[in-house]
Amino acid sequence: MEPVLLRARGVPDSRSIATYLAAGGYEGWKKALGMGPDAVTKEVLDSELRGRGGAGFPTGRKWSFVPKDHPGPRYLVCNADESEPGTFKDREIIEYDPHQVVEGVAIASFAIKANTAYIYIRGEFVRWARILEDAIAEARQRGFLGKNVMGSGFDLDVWVHRGAGAYICGEETALLESIEGKRGFPRLKPPFPAVVGVFGQPTVINNVETLACVPHIIVRGAAWFASIGRPKNTGPKLFCVSGHVNRPGVFELPLGVTFREIIEEHAGGVRGGRQLKAFFPGGSSAPILTAAEVDTMADFDACAAAGTMLGSGGIIVFDDTVDMVDVADNVAHFYAHESCGQCTPCREGSDWCMDILDRIVAGHGRPADPDTLLRICRFSSAGMTICPLGDAFALPISSIVNKYRSEFERRIASATPLPQKKQPVLPWAGPCPGFGI
Ligand SMILES: Cc1cc2nc3c(=O)[nH]c(=O)nc-3n(C[C@H](O)[C@H](O)[C@H](O)COP(=O)(O)O)c2cc1C
Repeated sequence: MEPVLLRARGVPDSRSIATYLAAGGYEGWKKALGMGPDAVTKEVLDSELRGRGGAGFPTGRKWSFVPKDHPGPRYLVCNADESEPGTFKDREIIEYDPHQVVEGVAIASFAIKANTAYIYIRGEFVRWARILEDAIAEARQRGFLGKNVMGSGFDLDVWVHRGAGAYICGEETALLESIEGKRGFPRLKPPFPAVVGVFGQPTVINNVETLACVPHIIVRGAAWFASIGRPKNTGPKLFCVSGHVNRPGVFELPLGVTFREIIEEHAGGVRGGRQLKAFFPGGSSAPILTAAEVDTMADFDACAAAGTMLGSGGIIVFDDTVDMVDVADNVAHFYAHESCGQCTPCREGSDWCMDILDRIVAGHGRPADPDTLLRICRFSSAGMTICPLGDAFALPISSIVNKYRSEFERRIASATPLPQKKQPVLPWAGPCPGFGI
């Protein structure tokens, strides 16, 4: 497939607006202004573009949820938080082609009639925040942003908002709280952000890659976009491959290629000639797939049918030297650290999983541990928490326990019991006559 989103990778001075314009940049924005908001939304609906941030929700449908008769302001938010382990595709787009993102933000803002847009980016990504700020300044100078864009009567301001560096702030409602200057605690839904979002106003939140697709859809048409991939799973997709492969990196491929093709052909196969053991198909919050499942198609519906999810497209590959108990422990550490602590099942559940897995890894596992892990994961997922961070640790851990249970049992079989802690003698222990006990 000829590159679409990464067409500027390797082009000299690819970030400048001059290079972008020479490659046909901002033509989509000009065309969109002539089409009107409803026609733009319809084109995106017809393209069957689905969100690239994790959930795969149809983008045009999300835009159409914004109430048409809302009297106040509306907002567009581009989610550049990109904190899911194994995910580094949005930064690749920003690195080589920031104007593609700015143009996508502009068209989406116009479609929902928002005059203000935020690009929310993780605090540590200073380099990419600066690249975006420079691109916004260039676009504004050329009249693509600001007051009365290209004489259309439409005003648009775009701001880069840097977060403080928390995984939870990638979750759309925690992100909105963060923009408002509050702690990143997810909100209960409904109401959904398209109805009540940032500052209480309708807000659409889309991922960087999702918005980068939009100018291409407007310029080349919905039918062209839908011809890539397969029905309901359309368009180009960026896959970031890391772990035990010969050629880690970001690859742009049509949705629906197999994980085998991505890992073996594009990422150069498992390094050192070793065997593939397992892989996370969409960041570490997606249930794990085994080597036997490598022919699964890398798209939203095929992944769902295989009991996992395409998520962010972050593929983390493990060779046959890897102990899956260690993988589960690693996952538990990340999510226990990142849980915002608002919901008990997520806060306590991720911590309990981490403690149990730490104990197994330290050689003190107990026979009941695999079932205890599965029980904790069950009560921490499937709608038991305000946001899906509960699922984000519970689903991968339970999938690892279920698919590699024998590795847990082997470790536990050779475990030694944890030395009993000596109970401290508390000064107030014993009879307390004053209180009749
Ligand atoms: C814990 C958590 C972290 C998330 N992190 C990100 C992120 O870093 N970037 C992102 O685009 N979406 C992230 N999401 C998904 C967003 O909530 C939201 O669905 C997405 O930004 C919508 O964009 P899309 O429709 O274009 O996919 C996260 C979700 C959860 C539950």
